[in-house]
Order: sequence, then C-alpha cells, then structure tokens
Amino acid sequence: MMRIVHLTDLHFGLHRADLVEPLQAAILENRPDLVVVSGDLTQRARSGQFRAAMDFLRGLGIALMLIPGNHDLPLFNPFARLLNPFGAYRRGAAREMTPVMQVGRVRLFGVNTADPLQWRGGVARSDEIARICASLRAGPQDTFNILVSHHPFEEPPGFERGETRNGLEATQQLTEAGLHVVLSGHLHHWNIGLGVSAQASRPLLHIQTGTALCSRIGERDHGFCVLEVEPATLRATRWLVAEDRAQFVPEAPALFGYEKGLWHKFA
Ligand SMILES: [Fe+2]
Ligand SMILES: [Fe+2]
Repeated sequence: MMRIVHLTDLHFGLHRADLVEPLQAAILENRPDLVVVSGDLTQRARSGQFRAAMDFLRGLGIALMLIPGNHDLPLFNPFARLLNPFGAYRRGAAREMTPVMQVGRVRLFGVNTADPLQWRGGVARSDEIARICASLRAGPQDTFNILVSHHPFEEPPGFERGETRNGLEATQQLTEAGLHVVLSGHLHHWNIGLGVSAQASRPLLHIQTGTALCSRIGERDHGFCVLEVEPATLRATRWLVAEDRAQFVPEAPALFGYEKGLWHKFA
C-alpha cells in the first residue's frame, strides 16, 4: 500500500500562520511515502514567499512532488510575467515543472497548467498532454497512474467556469492512454470522486482538494487529502481543521474500487 498526502494552495504570504505547525504535525502523523503539492505554493511568487513555502515543505523530510499554480507567476511585474514567467518558481521552488515520479507501483505525472496570458484560468497544453499519453502507453501496464494538475481538468458542480482550456479534451486523451486518477487544486473547494457513486461508475477518478492554508476572507475547510493506494482500490481521507482546537483531524474515508476500467464507490 502506498500512502500519498495531497496538499494544495498553500498561498504562503496570505496564509494562516496559526495552522502551519498543526499542518506539519498532521502530515507527519500520516507517515506518507510522498507529499504531492499541486500549486499555489505562494500568494505572489515573491522570493521570500517561496522560501517560506519550501522551508515548510522540505522541513517535513518526506519525498516531494511539486508543480506550479497561477499564483506562482509574478503578477505585478509584466516583464517578468511575459519574458520569464516561471523564473521565480524555478529559482524558489523546483527547476522541473512537469515532474514524473514512480513510487512502488504508482506513477505520477505533473502537468503545468499555469498560463502567463491569463490571471486565473489555466491551460492543458497539447504538447504536454501528448508527452504524458505517450509515456502512459509506453510504460509498464501494471502501474496505477495519477496526474497532478493545479487547475481541475473537469470542474465540479457550481464551478463550471471553463477555466482550464483544453481540459475536457485532455481528460479524454489521457483516459484512453491509461490514466486512472487526477489530483487538482485551485478552486479552494473539495470534491472527492466527481460523478462516481455507489450507483455511477466512471473511468477516471477526480480528487479536488481544498486549500491547506489560504487566509483569504471566506476560506473554509482548510485541510489536505490522504490517498491510500492499493492495486484495485483507493481510499481518500480528508483531514480538515477543527477550528476550536487548531488541529487537523480525519473524516470518515471514501473507498473506491477499480474494476474493468471503471471506478465505483463502496457504499
Ligand atoms: Fe489557490
Ligand atoms: Fe490557483
């Protein structure tokens, strides 16, 4: 069994400082094999914000996989935004923006959906999607394949903004190539297993995790998701802040099974 913590939208610079230590403690309590961070590490892509985010993440002492989000591009410096949009991220966080990792029988593919030409929206670039599809097809056929994206490729009810250009087409191509799960952030809203229930099956399981630390007014349900992956099942557990205790606590997990190319949810 492989245990992965999915963390997203840390927004260092506009973050809940009171939750940093409880978040660290709760992640460590899970003893994950890997921590995946799906973008918006910072609020404004400033070097000090990247430093704070990376001090926190590296301080966990656990293997990391990072991708950028739209907030990890400079906003107020138009030259940097257009000429070297990912320079701050690459200097401050990670040089690789489309990392690929294999941990046991789980393969993870990072995609960079941040787009310097849009403020909030994102894009599934066709060359990146084609590269991931080729890798899925060429790779071992007995792995569990996970895509990590900042922008959701398929938006949950209430968020149908069409913000990820080419997202639905990419979903189709990746599913045909052998993708099993998509992890995403950006919406600061939770949705585990979009469209998959005890009655309805789907070929791709979407896990939309809420913000871990953003302190913008109105933000709620701060937390992270723990995925426990076995060859034919995935257990997803939300760890949410209990505000009265400033502590992250687990909810009842959702259990999904994968059979004959489809996901279903155990009641
Ligand atoms: Fe965000
Ligand atoms: Fe975002």
